[in-house]
Amino acid sequence: MSDQDKVKTGGEMWDLRYSSEEYAYGKEANIWLSECISQLNPPQNNRALFPADGEGRNAVWAARIGWNSEVFDLSIVGKQKCHQLAQEHDVSVDYEVDDLSLREFPEKIYDLIACSWFHTPSEIRKVHMPRMLHSLKSGGHFVMEGYHTSQMPLQSGGPKSLDLLFDLDEVLEELVGEKAPQMHIIHTAVTSTVLDESSLHKGQARVVRFHLQRA
Ligand SMILES: C[S@@+](CC[C@H](N)C(=O)[O-])C[C@H]1O[C@@H](n2cnc3c(N)ncnc32)[C@H](O)[C@@H]1O
Repeated sequence: MSDQDKVKTGGEMWDLRYSSEEYAYGKEANIWLSECISQLNPPQNNRALFPADGEGRNAVWAARIGWNSEVFDLSIVGKQKCHQLAQEHDVSVDYEVDDLSLREFPEKIYDLIACSWFHTPSEIRKVHMPRMLHSLKSGGHFVMEGYHTSQMPLQSGGPKSLDLLFDLDEVLEELVGEKAPQMHIIHTAVTSTVLDESSLHKGQARVVRFHLQRA
């Protein structure tokens, strides 16, 4: 299977999910991401990466408050929906259809990397999330929310596979481990929350939250 085929295969499921007029996870930014990012001042000529941002709700929101938003995601339809949302708000987002495991990450180019619900098989996550962190500048921020392993029996969204869900200690060890650049921990938590993003992410949920900063 060629690299391009891998992207196509992975993206088809998400293209289908994003194919209706509705926005699968709503048009508003993820609340945890927006709370963290609102506390940061976008520096001049900043670059912010929103990996796996689907229909682009986080990237568009950030663009509205002064970030130069970039996205990569598997979904071609997600890209179209993101551009549509950006147009509604008169901002622009640079969106590439790409796969985490194939993407090149130049050293130290981003002031911010932020993602919500970016669940990948653990063997991919372990290698490629820390690799992605090398593209943060010194002092750059990493913000992420995902479903915790204890989300498994709940019906408020997320993958039904323990391998895809986040164990806080395990993921933190990866994000600050030897494959990652040196990262300071600003905040980590496993917490219960009530989601109201869309019918797919609604109700009592168990999540993990990370806010790290590159040394
Ligand atoms: C549950 S959706 C979340 C979308 C968005 N972050 C949000 O909160 O609205 C997961 C997204 O991850 C993307 N994705 C999954 N695996 C990926 C990979 N290996 N590389 C890039 N994107 C990926 C999918 O295309 C999908 O858009």
